[in-house]
Amino acid sequence: DQPTSADQPAGPARAPADDDYRGAGLQFPAGFVLGSATASYQVEGAAHEDGRGPSIWDTFSHTPGNVWNGDTGDVADDHYHRLDEDLDLMADLGLHAYRFSIAWPRIQPTGRGPANPAGLAFYSRLVDGLLERGIRPIATLYHWDLPQALEDEGGWTNRATAEAFAEYARLVGTELGDRVATWTTLNEPWCSAYLGYGSGAHAPGRTDPLAALTAVHHLNLAHGLAVQALRSVVTNDPDFSITLNLHVLRGEGEGAEEAVRQIDGIANRVFLQPLLEGGYPDDVLADTATITDWSFVRDGDAEIIRQPLDVLGVNYYSTTKVRLWDGVSPRQNADGHKDVGGSPWPGADRIEFLPQPGPHTDMGWNIEPAGLEELLVSLSRTHPELPLMVTENGAAFPDEVVADPSRPTGTAVHDDLRVDYLRRHVTACHRAVERGVDLRGYLVWSLLDNFEWGYGYAKRFGIVRVDYDTLERIPKDSAFWFAELARTGRIPE
Ligand code: NOJ
Repeated sequence: DQPTSADQPAGPARAPADDDYRGAGLQFPAGFVLGSATASYQVEGAAHEDGRGPSIWDTFSHTPGNVWNGDTGDVADDHYHRLDEDLDLMADLGLHAYRFSIAWPRIQPTGRGPANPAGLAFYSRLVDGLLERGIRPIATLYHWDLPQALEDEGGWTNRATAEAFAEYARLVGTELGDRVATWTTLNEPWCSAYLGYGSGAHAPGRTDPLAALTAVHHLNLAHGLAVQALRSVVTNDPDFSITLNLHVLRGEGEGAEEAVRQIDGIANRVFLQPLLEGGYPDDVLADTATITDWSFVRDGDAEIIRQPLDVLGVNYYSTTKVRLWDGVSPRQNADGHKDVGGSPWPGADRIEFLPQPGPHTDMGWNIEPAGLEELLVSLSRTHPELPLMVTENGAAFPDEVVADPSRPTGTAVHDDLRVDYLRRHVTACHRAVERGVDLRGYLVWSLLDNFEWGYGYAKRFGIVRVDYDTLERIPKDSAFWFAELARTGRIPE
């Protein structure tokens, strides 16, 4: 006999909070943008074609030991040669918007000098292809593929890189500035600075805390200079933005508040404050004083960095748990980034990063949709005038291909875990909207399985599977699910 509910032992007074994120049936307001995202080095391939110069990711991925399995972006999804097919795919899925990035070394092979016409032509064709299909182009200028020639002069530790970036922005803006709807200067400068120059997990693979902090400032400066440069050449009144991976922090144990303050400073406020309010937070300057006096910041930089923004891009995957180090060796990379020796947290030597309870994705990242809602609500409370857009959210899972004669490809990927992840996070967005957040849209990472940086092709984030032997595209169940969401604006089962 099954016990009746009256026989049940006293359980929790309410269902687990996570049940609040099963939002099937909820309707988004009209105009809510539903789309997807990719980045140049992760999907394009054609690494040596049409005058493209080498980037730091070519160098890094071709150096043994840096990327899982020795994978590189040489071919990736071959998107460069399959542009029309991929545009048709986006149209079939009914995407409202597509966020792509422009490879700086296609435009300026050495990071300086005149624009390479073939490079501009590719992105021009991409933008036209989107507009013809009624898809809004959201262009990111920098998604980590710095021209190697600029790295040879110090990369983001060199102020001249920020100035070169402004010139690159001007060249791109002159070509595409009549058609791109949203310009995003940088994608996740946290990664560029701290994984690139601090932990060494990303290109260029340096492990120097001073270099990492110098890079933070030059990236911020590059953003400001690029917005100014774009503004001077565009003709269609686009939105200007930047995309950040803000860390949603959970403090634990004695000193939890202090641990959260430190990481919030070095991970979040070191970008948010200069971008939105002007200048660096005093506590971050104090925390990092043994590394640098920040004399790389010059008079006038604060004003350049604080450009009016039309929308802030938010990338969200997971939360991060921290506590003050208790004397045992601190785990600095336990938030899911490859541990390669260096620390991605300059000045925060006393902070330990704790593993989190599951469920986890294939990246080992804990699944916590409430963190996304919390982040959106908190940003909108501190910056009520600033519209937000989720520019990335998604999950890697080890997908399986099965035969299915009813599908056009004859195969299917029943990626229930990804559908569940997306449904919960889209629900988190809906809840944020209900709570008054000016959230303009949600872009799923990613349209296609692609080169997941240090993990190579081992981690699959796509709603469309890519067979890396044949380069065939196979829409997963999550793609059909997302297409229904985009078509109806209502969260599907
Ligand atoms: C953020 C990055 O922008 C993107 O390039 C990456 O693939 C995803 N996170 C997943 O790690």
